[in-house]
Amino acid sequence: MSGYTVLSRAPIPGSSEDLILYQRDDEFTIRISGYVSELMNSRMHGSEDALAEYACPIIAGRAGVRVLVGGLGMGFTLAAALRSTGPDATVTVAELVPQVVDWNRGPLGECAGRPLDNLRTRVHVGDVAELLRGSRAVWDAVLLDVDNGPDGMTHKENDWLYSHKGLKAIAAALTPGGVLAIWSVDPDPKFTARLIKAGYSVETRIARERPGKGAKHTIWLAVRP
Ligand SMILES: C[S@@+](CC[C@H](N)C(=O)[O-])C[C@H]1O[C@@H](n2cnc3c(N)ncnc32)[C@H](O)[C@@H]1O
Repeated sequence: MSGYTVLSRAPIPGSSEDLILYQRDDEFTIRISGYVSELMNSRMHGSEDALAEYACPIIAGRAGVRVLVGGLGMGFTLAAALRSTGPDATVTVAELVPQVVDWNRGPLGECAGRPLDNLRTRVHVGDVAELLRGSRAVWDAVLLDVDNGPDGMTHKENDWLYSHKGLKAIAAALTPGGVLAIWSVDPDPKFTARLIKAGYSVETRIARERPGKGAKHTIWLAVRP
């Protein structure tokens, strides 16, 4: 990768791969070792913002909203969730790789305006599934961007999140009328059908990676009845 410097490398728990943070001038990119495509680029975050911007209006008007974001990445979805909710809302971000939290407290922090410093932010270092399994009516919104879509790319165990069992567990963890939003690089009609089968009412939206241009990503908005 010409012109990029490796800033840091972090093992992904439960995987033989690493996350690698690169920098070129003021641009950052995160890759998974063994994959050609980028996981994240600091110049392209329109759809990461949209994940929160599309979902949070669905729960607008509620008091003391609780949003769960999985994972942190470069902090764009977290920052958008903070912008899209009221002053009494809290946003918990779950991040599997501890070094990603360190990167966001350090060099990556400026990309999204240092959302970890916001007093409404809570950080869970660990698997987002730990905050979903067995929970009852805790979250008003769950915003998932932990892979490139509904299959476990970063972490094989993420497959549970997209399975029928996982989707039912997430529905139970949502408050009535709460929303599960999921980011994906591609559409996936079979996954839409799985969400419907798990009892959600589902809308599929498109978001561009840059304002008005760039790749089109898919966002599912799945509401618990
Ligand atoms: C594509 S990035 C997220 C980008 C983020 N939406 C943003 O705005 O920058 C995926 C992140 O999810 C984390 N991750 C993967 N699996 C996870 C899990 N099961 N629980 C929590 N975080 C996870 C990865 O370490 C990585 O930081």
